[in-house]
Order: sequence, then structure tokens, then C-alpha cells
Amino acid sequence: MKVVITRKIPETIKHMLDSACTTYMWAEELEPMPRHLLLEQAVDADAIFTNVSDRIDKELFQAAPRLKVVSTMAVGVDNIDLAEASRRGIPVGHTPGVLSEAVADLTFTLMLAAARKVVEGMAYIREGRWRGWGPMLFTGRDVYRATIGIIGMGSIGRGVARRAAGFDMRILYHNRKPDPEAEKQLGAEYCDLDTLLRQSDYVVMLAPATPETHRMIGARQFALMKPNAIFVNTSRGGNVDEQALVRALKGGTIWGAGLDVFEQEPIRPDHPLLALDNVVTLPHIGSATLDTRMNMAALAAQNILHVLNGEPPAHCANRAALGP
Ligand code: GLV
Ligand code: GLV
Repeated sequence: MKVVITRKIPETIKHMLDSACTTYMWAEELEPMPRHLLLEQAVDADAIFTNVSDRIDKELFQAAPRLKVVSTMAVGVDNIDLAEASRRGIPVGHTPGVLSEAVADLTFTLMLAAARKVVEGMAYIREGRWRGWGPMLFTGRDVYRATIGIIGMGSIGRGVARRAAGFDMRILYHNRKPDPEAEKQLGAEYCDLDTLLRQSDYVVMLAPATPETHRMIGARQFALMKPNAIFVNTSRGGNVDEQALVRALKGGTIWGAGLDVFEQEPIRPDHPLLALDNVVTLPHIGSATLDTRMNMAALAAQNILHVLNGEPPAHCANRAALGP
């Protein structure tokens, strides 16, 4: 059995796969595996260990006649053609659960950093501009007791809601279906999207990227938000119309933003978002704690080993592939 690993992963995780399979690993940690090489290596691959930056599409499935499983070191599977995988009976493993708390932490990090001008304040000191304490210097926004609106109440959303409850926040949420558990345990209130946008001080986007969520936050949605609203996105850049976000931030339609994800990653250094003071940006590191990334990598490896042993992956993103 041959596994293609499309990025340099920790040795201990690679050993899990080496013990049962032949592995080909792209040796770069920060550069994606070139497409032509991936297509070439896929020819005799039984499994692909992938991540958010590879496109696992019809062309790739066609190039990989022996493929039995795709496993991504991520919860999001928007880079993978699930319908095509299911049609071919190929399960797609992913890593929900193990990353939820880390992503919830980073979501709160962005809320707090944007609200309290953390990055601007640090630049101010570094640039030698700090002359003394000022009564209104870097005044930001309260997080405690403010209203948070969570779009997408999955396990990450529930993690954010638990943290928000600790900050005495009023918790609104919007989801495909209501979550009675979150309502009972955390006092979260279900509401339609427009109501959530109108009432929230912090609008937090956590929905997975699907055709239904594509650019679901655009000019109309920013116009509904409060002028003091802070928009945070730790899901996928495609859920937001980025040009509309730039206009909303520039024109004072909303107060600030915290972004871990972008329409195009890496975002170009000359992107207009990066010229704004009221935005905090991070390079897609929502789940990036050492422990969480190790757990994700181990789970991604286990998902492959399960399938190659004739079992379903522990976490399968396309149940249809497993048959009735
Ligand atoms: C990262 O973005 C993930 O989907 O896990
Ligand atoms: C998003 O990925 C969620 O779990 O809500």
C-alpha cells in the first residue's frame, strides 16, 4: 500500500504510516506539493494524506485509479470534491473535534485583539511613538457583557459560546438547525441571520464553506451590522465578500475585524485589507497549537490506516462513500 503525504509532517506521525505502508512525503513544510507531482505520485497511490491547500478534484481522482481513501489534516473539506469521492466509493477522512477548543481560543484571541487594538498598540511602542499614558489612548471596545452572534453552531461554535458565557456575554446564534443543548446549557438564543447581524457587537463566522455559505456575508449583511461591530472569521475566506468587507471597514460601516482566513491564501501583501488599522490578520492558524496539530496529524494518519484495514475512517466527511 502506498500513501502520498502532500506536506512534511512530524516524524512520529509519518512512522505510524511507515509501519504499515510505503510512504511518499513532499519534504517541504511551507510550500504546497506541486500539482504535477501530486498527479504523478497519485498514479499508484492507495491513500492521500492532504491538507487545506491541495485541490482534490475530479482530475486527481481520475489520475489515481487505486485510491482507497483521502485523509485531510483539517476539519474543513471544501478543497475536496466529496461528490466525486462518494461516487467512487472513496471515503474522505477529516479531523473534527480535536481542533475545536484551539480554534475557539483563536476566535476569542481575534475578538479581544481587535477590540483592544492589541496589534496597533504593539506597533506604536515598537515605532517609538509612545510618549506617555493618555486618558483616551487606544480606547477599544468592551468584550465582557457585549452581545456575540455566532454563525455556525458546531463544536467550534459551542466552544466559542462557552467562552462567551464566561465573559457574561449575551449569546445569539444562527445555524441550519437550532441547538437545544447550547440553548439550555449556555443560554444561547437562536435567531435568523438578519436579527443576529443587527443585534451583535461581535459577529463570528464559523460556518463551513459550502455553496450555501459562499459569500453569505456581503455588503447587505455589513450594512445591517452595528457601527461598533467587530467581525471575526476563523472559518473560510469564501464565506465573506472581501471587497465588501474592505469597504465596510474603510467607510465605518463596522468598527473592526479579526481574520484568520482569506479568499486567497496566502493573501497578497498589497491587499487593501492589510493597509487598514482596524483589522487584525493571522495566517490561517486557527488550530495551530503544538498539541492540537499533533492530534490532528495522528487522527489523519489513523483515518488512513482504518480504511486500508477495511474499516471506515474514525471521522468520515462523506458517509455516502461507505454505502448503505
Ligand atoms: C483548517 O482550516 C481546518 O479546516 O481544519
Ligand atoms: C464550523 O466548522 C463549525 O463547527 O461550526
